[in-house]
Amino acid sequence: MKFTYYGHSCFLIETNGKKILFDPFISPNELAKDKVDISHIECDYIAISHGHFDHIADAESIAKRTNATIICAYELYEYFSKKGLTNFRPMNVGGKWTADFGTVKCVSAVHSSNLPDGNYGASPMGFVFNTNEGDFYYSGDTALTMDMQLIPRWSKLKFAILPIGDNFTMDVDDAIAAADFVQCNKIIGVHYDTFGFIKIDHDVAKEKVSKAGKDLILVDIGATIEV
Ligand code: NI
Ligand code: MN
Repeated sequence: MKFTYYGHSCFLIETNGKKILFDPFISPNELAKDKVDISHIECDYIAISHGHFDHIADAESIAKRTNATIICAYELYEYFSKKGLTNFRPMNVGGKWTADFGTVKCVSAVHSSNLPDGNYGASPMGFVFNTNEGDFYYSGDTALTMDMQLIPRWSKLKFAILPIGDNFTMDVDDAIAAADFVQCNKIIGVHYDTFGFIKIDHDVAKEKVSKAGKDLILVDIGATIEV
């Protein structure tokens, strides 16, 4: 499996020959806009965790160019449909879907969600993916929550993609506890540094995770790693 980081909570996972883009937010991101050429991003699917601007900003343009299938909450499907998009898998928390990449299950996230036009953005979600190349979890924006303890019932995670920026989501300490809950020792950190509120000290974060017997991977924007 390959993981490419596009900054904030935007990344691309390549598995079973399929490309899944998550929470596209690149052109408004000062840290990413000069490092990532959006017009070159290819994807088969776009998974969106919730309606906040910092998770959907580039979804419409990328979906229109690539004709990727958007995996999102039903209410987000209604929002993007009005913008002329036609290729969706509308879902909701608790549901799962088996497609050519494997199976995706929508899981709960403790956060908020509205859309840029003021419409209700549905319950925020995380995703558990089961694939031939391994299982992974992207929590979306969330607080640490007891519900995460359910995730090992459905998966044996290779890695977990967790927010670590604090203020709007978990900080690194809560992400360590989350990794315990989901029984995973490999954390890829997201949702940090993008804005003043969520700037973190990378060395301190890595040391805390390492002391907990786990790995924190902070991928350079634009870089691809094997996971
Ligand atoms: Ni959010
Ligand atoms: Mn966010």
